[in-house]
Amino acid sequence: MHNLEINGQRLWDSLMEMAKIGATEKGGVRRLALTDVDREARDLFVRWCEDAGCAVSVDAMGNIFARRPGRDDSAPPVMAGSHLDSQPTGGKFDGAYGVLAALEVVRTLNDAAYETSAPIEVAAWTNEEGSRFAPAMIGSGTFAGIFGLDYAHRCADPDGLTLGAELQRIGYKGDGCGGRPVGAYFEAHIEQGPILEAEEKTIGVVTGAQAQRWYEITLTGQESHAGPTPMEVRRDALLGAAAVVQAVNRIGHEFQPGACATVGMLEVLPNSRNVIPGQVFLTVDFRHPDDGRLAAMDKALRRADDEAAAAAGLEMEFKQIWQCAATPFDTACVDAVRAAAKASDFSHRDIISGAGHDAVYMATVTPTAMIFVPCEGGISHNEIENATPEDLTAGCQVLLGAVLAKDG
Ligand code: GLV
Ligand code: MN
Ligand code: MN
Repeated sequence: MHNLEINGQRLWDSLMEMAKIGATEKGGVRRLALTDVDREARDLFVRWCEDAGCAVSVDAMGNIFARRPGRDDSAPPVMAGSHLDSQPTGGKFDGAYGVLAALEVVRTLNDAAYETSAPIEVAAWTNEEGSRFAPAMIGSGTFAGIFGLDYAHRCADPDGLTLGAELQRIGYKGDGCGGRPVGAYFEAHIEQGPILEAEEKTIGVVTGAQAQRWYEITLTGQESHAGPTPMEVRRDALLGAAAVVQAVNRIGHEFQPGACATVGMLEVLPNSRNVIPGQVFLTVDFRHPDDGRLAAMDKALRRADDEAAAAAGLEMEFKQIWQCAATPFDTACVDAVRAAAKASDFSHRDIISGAGHDAVYMATVTPTAMIFVPCEGGISHNEIENATPEDLTAGCQVLLGAVLAKDG
């Protein structure tokens, strides 16, 4: 047992300082991966890590690792972290909390001159959100060997700028990626859902994450004039897209309990009020805690989309661009999180992550678990995302306890 206490005020101040980078008028952040503001956030994080005496390294995916040496510096590090990139209209805590909580663990160890047996590493993973570059979690996924480096570097944003070129441009393209042992990985995160708040629990002991699939669908009809073109001869791509949107929502409801189904992007061409839309691009995000149920949702989607395209006289290009299996976390790491919550007398419950996290890919290469804290109204991926300093402090304290439990 240790008697170290993390400094909640310092953690909060760091979160608020970080949130100034890419700050939006509504109180959130817009810090898309590998943009100039992402570089600014990275620079600040690196400076803080160096101030904390860490050796900082950057890999070929731009993942940043800040290392605090251990007594046995050849031992695999105990790692903790998350991401600094955000959604286009993101909040102050999604990702930044896990990175800065891990840094706060290091700062706390420094204050106490506490020597760990293994090195401790703070990780800031590249492009977790999957918002600018798809798929999500590509930095940790490449570290874990799920994606090849070439594939990852070739991923392009909607303007055609590649992840590799953007890494180079902002000066965060280092060497090598993964292929080294990690002793354990922990990630603290806001829950991004309503359960902990509703049940008045301070800590979510995350036992695993649900499965996900991402799709890109392009429906093609024919552009034509909104006035002279009679209704019966139209091939309106937006009409087919509307049926797809309805089907996605219906499938989400049909596969309860557990399913989530979202159309998040819709691009209408040419997007002019007096032109019948000739082409629509849309994305589908499907999730379910059970891989088999998600596979059944996939089947239902393919059938519904074929019908929607045929009914509107459209051609359809249907691509599943990413899939991630349901991921149970490591029992011993989950136990370490639960024990740390108990040791501090925090109310807690087991919970499954609805969101994807870098921990999902880290779980494929090292024993892994996560710690959730409540967020206001369960709202995330929104500029109003909020969490209390008390809960954030508690989550960080649990992170410290779990890290020390896995040390040595
Ligand atoms: C990441 O934020 C995700 O779960 O989509
Ligand atoms: Mn996140
Ligand atoms: Mn997110």
